[in-house]
Parts: sequence; structure tokens; C-alpha cells
Amino acid sequence: MNTTNKCWAVVPAAGAGQRMKADRPKQYLTLAGKAVIEHTLERLLQAEVFVTIAVAISKEDGYWPELEISKEAGIITAPGGKERADSVLSALNTIAAADDDWVLVHDAARPCITVNDIHFLINTLQDDEVGGILALPSHDTLKKVKKATSIAKTVDRNRIWRALTPQMFRYRLLREALLASQGNPAVTDEASALELQGLQPKIVEGRPDNIKITRPEDLALAEFYLAQQQQ
Ligand code: CTP
Ligand code: MG
Repeated sequence: MNTTNKCWAVVPAAGAGQRMKADRPKQYLTLAGKAVIEHTLERLLQAEVFVTIAVAISKEDGYWPELEISKEAGIITAPGGKERADSVLSALNTIAAADDDWVLVHDAARPCITVNDIHFLINTLQDDEVGGILALPSHDTLKKVKKATSIAKTVDRNRIWRALTPQMFRYRLLREALLASQGNPAVTDEASALELQGLQPKIVEGRPDNIKITRPEDLALAEFYLAQQQQ
């Protein structure tokens, strides 16, 4: 792959995985014989495009140093933060990227990312001034609700996409946007921080098997997708 600007990867992996209700953070649960985060990082390494992969790790995390991949040249760590955005900012501060270099932020909890999707995102956006995200069109009919239980209206689903990762942005724009939105609970992904700056990130259609492991049932689904990808 040839890009004019260097590419760096940032992997937030400092969450506690509360919705997973497991005995350890979900990135360390075993999936097809390896920790979830090992699958994720191996896919990023296989893409062979990143100068460095910066992983945000919680300071209480005793699992990370036990993994072989933590010693891999090309992978560095940064201290995790209170929210996902804080972890991403911390990782951005550890890489020596130039202003216009690309940063791809990818959740540790998305182990089914394919090398093809990483390359497709980079190829699609490499001449863009801002960047964009992998996303999925919504197939379900969507309802906006009044209070929690009654329908207010049906939303035009042709204009609704689900945000995935990687999310790919110019280093300086991303860092400044995250700094400006620190502590804002509405910023649940990188794109929303850039949107608040008045920028318009692009949408690039990703694969539906790029799921985020969130709840207990997602682990079996991820295992199924990984097996399917081998075929
Ligand atoms: N993350 C992080 N730092 C935080 C919170 C989350 O690096 N303070 C990371 C997680 O490790 C995960 C990604 O951001 O890879 C997506 O977040 P999410 O799916 O919400 O993971 P958790 O916060 O760990 O899970 P939960 O919300 O269920 O507690
Ligand atoms: Mg969370």
C-alpha cells in the first residue's frame, strides 16, 4: 500500500467491559484460542501499513504484560484514561506523528476487522482533507421514541448509518478536536469530536462482521465470524 502520508494506529484497550459481566476486561477473554486483543492487534500488524500501533492500557491492567504480543516491536503503550476519548488522546500523545499523518483509531474489542477493510478505508480516504469512518447502513426500520416506551415517529433509515471502527483522521485535526471536547459525554467516537468542530467526516461502508464485543452473546458470534473468514 502506498500513501503519501504515514499511517499510525491507536487502539483504545483501557475499558473495564462492564456490560460483558465477565471476570476480566473483555479484551482479555479467550476467542478461538487467543485473547480478543491479540486477534485485533494481529489484524492491524498484518495490514502492514502502520508506523506504530499505540495501545491505551489501564494502569491496573495485569493481563497485558502477560501477552506475547505486548513485546512486539511496532507496538507501544500509553496510559488509559477515564473515558474512551481520554484513552485515545493519551495514545495520540505518545506517537511522533506529523500534522497531516493519518491516525486509524480501532477498538480493541473489534477482533473481526479484516485487512481488506483497513486497506479499503485508507484507499478511499487518503486524498481527503479530514478523514472518515467505516460504517454500516441500517437495515431495520427505525423508531424514534417518546419517553422510553412509545413511538414518536419512524426515522428515514436511508440516512442512518452505524459507526464502526477504524475511524481515520488527520493527526492534528483529531488531536485538536478531542482536546476541545474533553469531558463532553456526547463524544462517543472520534467522528463526533470532529463534527463538533464543524467538520464533515466521510462514511465508508464496512463489513457487517466487524462487530464490537459488548455483551456475553457477542463472543460466540465473533468466533463464528472468525471461522467464516478463514474459508
Ligand atoms: N476504552 C478505553 N478507555 C476507556 C473506556 C473504553 O480504552 N476509559 C476502550 C475499550 O477497551 C474498548 C473500546 O474503548 O476497546 C470501546 O469501548 P466499549 O465497547 O464501551 O468498552 P468498555 O468501556 O470496556 O465496555 P463497557 O462500556 O461495557 O464497560
Ligand atoms: Mg464503555
